[in-house]
Amino acid sequence: MADAPDMMQVNNVSKAFGEDWEREMVIENLSLKIRRNQLTAIVGPSGCGKSTVVNLLAGFEKPDSGQILLDGRPVTGPSKDTLVVFQETALMPWLTTYQNVTFGPKLRGDIPRDQLKEAADSIIETVGLKEFRDKYPLQLSGGMQRRAELARALINQPLVMIMDEPFRGLDAMTRQLMQEFYMRLCEQEARTNVFVTSELEEAIILADSLVVLSNRPATVREVVQIDLPRPRNLEMLSSSQAYEYKRHAMEMLHEEALKSFKGVGSSSDFLESYSRRP
Ligand SMILES: Nc1ncnc2c1ncn2[C@@H]1O[C@H](COP(=O)(O)OP(=O)(O)OP(=O)(O)O)[C@@H](O)[C@H]1O
Ligand SMILES: [Mg+2]
Repeated sequence: MADAPDMMQVNNVSKAFGEDWEREMVIENLSLKIRRNQLTAIVGPSGCGKSTVVNLLAGFEKPDSGQILLDGRPVTGPSKDTLVVFQETALMPWLTTYQNVTFGPKLRGDIPRDQLKEAADSIIETVGLKEFRDKYPLQLSGGMQRRAELARALINQPLVMIMDEPFRGLDAMTRQLMQEFYMRLCEQEARTNVFVTSELEEAIILADSLVVLSNRPATVREVVQIDLPRPRNLEMLSSSQAYEYKRHAMEMLHEEALKSFKGVGSSSDFLESYSRRP
């Protein structure tokens, strides 16, 4: 159904890993709606199963039970409609920015040559890498590499952009710049995004809706609508409204972290990762 109200629906999905007695439930009865042209941010305790959710949405893994629908149709495997940008760089070091961006479409042959050049140059300009079009990944800064990866995903015009901690590992200043850049990009071009992050403020400032996952086995603890006005800027994080979102989400995450503390994980690691900013 092209006019389905939600771009993706996750209905009662469960997923376990391992054999027999070692079998461990990672996702349990998780239901979630990914709204069209909105950014859905997902946060949750460290190791709770966020990347597993990403792998299920992208079709890399299959649910043991339940169903995932993309635009009304079941997800049966990976496709260019649901592209993932990971935290690790996936750029090929022997290819230039332009060659990296055009690699996928060339391989598949799904964009005619003349259109491909035009589309690639336009996307490279959008991500601010026009001057670095013919440079190799090692000649780019960390932030530029992330933008090149974004361009590589965007050229395929995926129905859903799925990002798994895409800015993790960047220094604080570059990370802020990337957040501002991505905020603008989302506001300028309608796109459906799923954005997994372990930084609560990053989630709040980017998100239209914030999904808080429980401790493992992960299920949805709460979905918080983030009604900060648009266009947004990072200063809005100091507003009382943003503070209230943060306080509420921290409270839930703290409770979930304490549960994992009773198990094997460490809540102090987790709390540290969510409260890096003052
Ligand atoms: N392919 C797999 N085979 C076996 N176990 C797996 C597999 N993928 C994930 N797991 C297990 O599922 C659990 C959740 O892992 P996952 O990577 O989804 O968590 P996460 O929330 O993304 O963690 P992090 O905060 O470190 O990014 C872990 O215990 C992990 O060992
Ligand atoms: Mg992960």
